[in-house]
Amino acid sequence: MKDPETPSEEALDFEETIAATVATSAAATSTTLEVAAANPLRDPRDKRLPRVAGPCVLVLFGVTGDLAKRKLLPAIYDLGNRGLLPPGFSLVGFARRDWKDQDFAQVTHDAVKAHARTPFREEVWKQLREGIHFVPGEFSDDGAFDALAMALKEIDETRGTGGNYAFYLSVPPKFFPVVVEQLKRTGVSQAPPGSWRRVVIEKPFGHDLKSAHELNEITTSAFPESSIFRIDHYLGKETVQNILALRFANNLYEPIWNRGYVDHVQITMAEDIGIGGRAGYYDGIGAARDVIQNHLLQLLALVAMEDPTSFDASALRREKEKVLKAVQLPSDLALNTARGQYDAGWQGGEKVVGYLQEDGISPDSTTETYAAIKLEIANRRWAGVPFYLRTGKRLGRRVTEVAVVFQRAPHLPFSKDDTEILGQNALVIRVQPDEGITVRFGSKVPGTAMEVRDVSMDFAYGESFLESSPEAYERLLLDVMIGDPPLFPHQREVELSWKILDPIEEFWATQGQPEGYPAGSWGPPSADAMMGDGRAWRRL
Ligand code: BG6
Repeated sequence: MKDPETPSEEALDFEETIAATVATSAAATSTTLEVAAANPLRDPRDKRLPRVAGPCVLVLFGVTGDLAKRKLLPAIYDLGNRGLLPPGFSLVGFARRDWKDQDFAQVTHDAVKAHARTPFREEVWKQLREGIHFVPGEFSDDGAFDALAMALKEIDETRGTGGNYAFYLSVPPKFFPVVVEQLKRTGVSQAPPGSWRRVVIEKPFGHDLKSAHELNEITTSAFPESSIFRIDHYLGKETVQNILALRFANNLYEPIWNRGYVDHVQITMAEDIGIGGRAGYYDGIGAARDVIQNHLLQLLALVAMEDPTSFDASALRREKEKVLKAVQLPSDLALNTARGQYDAGWQGGEKVVGYLQEDGISPDSTTETYAAIKLEIANRRWAGVPFYLRTGKRLGRRVTEVAVVFQRAPHLPFSKDDTEILGQNALVIRVQPDEGITVRFGSKVPGTAMEVRDVSMDFAYGESFLESSPEAYERLLLDVMIGDPPLFPHQREVELSWKILDPIEEFWATQGQPEGYPAGSWGPPSADAMMGDGRAWRRL
């Protein structure tokens, strides 16, 4: 058996830097921190009651993985720095390493220094350090989990954490069941009256509909549904939550947000990175299971759903479920989907190897690193409007966006020559980087002729707000500790998403090797071919 904690092979891994969301107003941040230091429980920018976590312990499985080092540990520090963690807050790491508390503290310290969003402050670190513990062990080792249960009891006594525990499974999916079973066996999954126990499961939740269902059976046998937090970190992104604000806090767009005006929608999540050290996780999973099943279908749901009656979890999830239920696959999957695998090529001035040459990938792997699909939504609002979803590794650049492309004006009272380079109106939600919203429309070119050309109107977060955006994981970790579920998909959403993807995966499984595309390009030719009807992918 492989070492479950080997980071290069199996640990969840985010190779992307967080630079884009870090770059914000330094002045605003430092002032905030000074005031926050005077009253660590209060963020002075927040005029509402602060959302602060109550006493609790966060137990992290998979602390040696890249996700923990790059995202989770820094996010915990950032929450502390913003005064959003309680004084007794404790962090327990669990891994197959011969470490003591101080070793894990050192790893946390290094991760914070390297990747935290907010500046390093010795007093914040000292407070966090006091609550850091480590329990060594394998996931199959009953003794290690008994030791974990003991450690949690002791922490409750010494730090006043009140029996409130969140267990974060940042481990490869194949270990989810064994860890959950252990938590059940030791009894730590059952909350005594007056306390809470929660489990946080990283995506992908299952491999297909059947396995997602099975995993859910195991998880719900240990934790009640209300204590299960299935993470989709895209929902923690400010720009993704802003889709709801854009649609439902304004009256400007909603009247045209339908088949009467929208020609099609394009949802793109392009990455320039390859699979790096994640062969063990990625091979056999591929682009569609890795991000379409979760991130991109969640984006589709937010863009296409009806307005919820409120923003509480059940109302929001109900609307997302309704729209996911209405999603229909095209009858001809060969024509309306595309899958590719990157070949060697050039990226950022460097020569990079192809997928099949990456460490740990078998030379005949058929795993796709690019996936594109066309979907339709069978309801009154969207009938006949195609939704195109695409994602890929080693593409031209890193960009995630949702583009709502509108129909052309029914009649142009200008000469053809004057409108030659006029495109379609579009509203583009720039999820990352360069977060914001762009509206594309036609405008008269200055001069004596009535020439019309596309121009852009732009909203950029950096220009409109002094506050920097919290990292997605800051928001989501805080929500877990507070027990606030709206930004976590329900099992029904997870299963509906697998229902959409499963037939495509089954079809692809019969198709042999995916089409090659050079690293640094925009994917395989079949992705362009599937657009049809005079439509084309946006050039990014
Ligand atoms: C993860 C995927 O969910 O999202 C990774 O497993 C991907 O393959 C990552 O690289 C991208 O996240 P972000 O926030 O950088 O877009």
